[in-house]
Amino acid sequence: MDLSFFQEKFTAVFETRPKASFFAPGRVNLIGEHIDYNGGLVFPCAITLGTYGSVSKRSDKLFRVYSLNFESLGIIEFSLDDLAYNSAHNWCNYLKGVLKYLLAAGHTIDSGLNIAIFGNIPNGSGLSSSASLEILMCKICTDIYDLNLSSVEAALLGKKVENEYIGVNSGIMDQFAIALGKEEHALLLDCNTQKYQHIPFQIEGYSIVIMNTNKRRELADSKYNERRSECESALLKLKKSFNIQALCDLKEENLDEAAAIINHPTEFKRVKHTITENTRVIAATKALEARDLITFGKLLNASHLSLKDDYEVTGRELDTLAQAAWNTEGVLGARMTGAGFGGCAIALVADENVEIFIEKVNAAYTKEIGYEASFYIASIGNGPKQIH
Ligand code: GLA
Repeated sequence: MDLSFFQEKFTAVFETRPKASFFAPGRVNLIGEHIDYNGGLVFPCAITLGTYGSVSKRSDKLFRVYSLNFESLGIIEFSLDDLAYNSAHNWCNYLKGVLKYLLAAGHTIDSGLNIAIFGNIPNGSGLSSSASLEILMCKICTDIYDLNLSSVEAALLGKKVENEYIGVNSGIMDQFAIALGKEEHALLLDCNTQKYQHIPFQIEGYSIVIMNTNKRRELADSKYNERRSECESALLKLKKSFNIQALCDLKEENLDEAAAIINHPTEFKRVKHTITENTRVIAATKALEARDLITFGKLLNASHLSLKDDYEVTGRELDTLAQAAWNTEGVLGARMTGAGFGGCAIALVADENVEIFIEKVNAAYTKEIGYEASFYIASIGNGPKQIH
């Protein structure tokens, strides 16, 4: 990222120099998919793709914001005195939501900002560009207004914005992965207790290749909420027979009994994915700690198959990418990452095979789907920071 270009742009748009610049990462989830909202374990990491923001302080109560990703929208303006959701404010609603809930939590923000934003997370790719923007705004406000806001509080506030202000019923994983990102580490997060642990992500000789289907995925209009309600319905039935608070509290050995209680083949498949995925996360972290990348890769594959057959959130594009990756030499494992229904998949690929891997997978994908996929090598980075 060329920061000086970004800052010059800021100066041209706002006719003043930026006071400070910030960055917040995006994320990939290594394993533990669609179980954050079922009280499960997830294992994501922050990546070095993300969102940049430069700011200068204003003496009035206005926020004047400009995105280099949506230049045709020009400067969008809103006031601290009216932070209600407004669809005309487009992507700025994420910033407004953060401000609204910071004020509601008792933080003092009494003047506005000029803000320029630039993101290099491909939009709608499932690498959490919206959580990145929320956590970026939390970081900007924390530093500029000298707020006392911990990383965990920022993650919870970002989730509240997503759930209550934007209206997407997502879980806690994305905001946590971003707010608590640590270079060369993945985050093992228990979504029930919010206890977390950074686990060294040591994969010498291998790379995580992100494969983008280039099929946009919008959580709001996907089957995301449908999956959530299927899980909620199964949980209600199971609670009558088991002492559990969340689906992931159910033990794998009780699955057969659970099938009879749920008495609904589709809902049972969702539960089966949830429980087996939780077990796979534990196995995957152990494999990684033991530097057993072969087992880790197999667990990635099993996760994809479970998301395809039991949770049914993959689709033709993600399945084609996973299958093409599995067929290619030097690959230890591959799976979809994030919500599914398009977006991205990841593969664990031997460094010397990466170039040919990209060529082969892209050829197979283009032949089957009719347009190309995009590929990025994931570097695992830190959480939000001030960069200037
Ligand atoms: C999206 C949501 C997360 C999580 C994943 C699926 O990324 O924002 O909370 O549910 O999907 O694992």
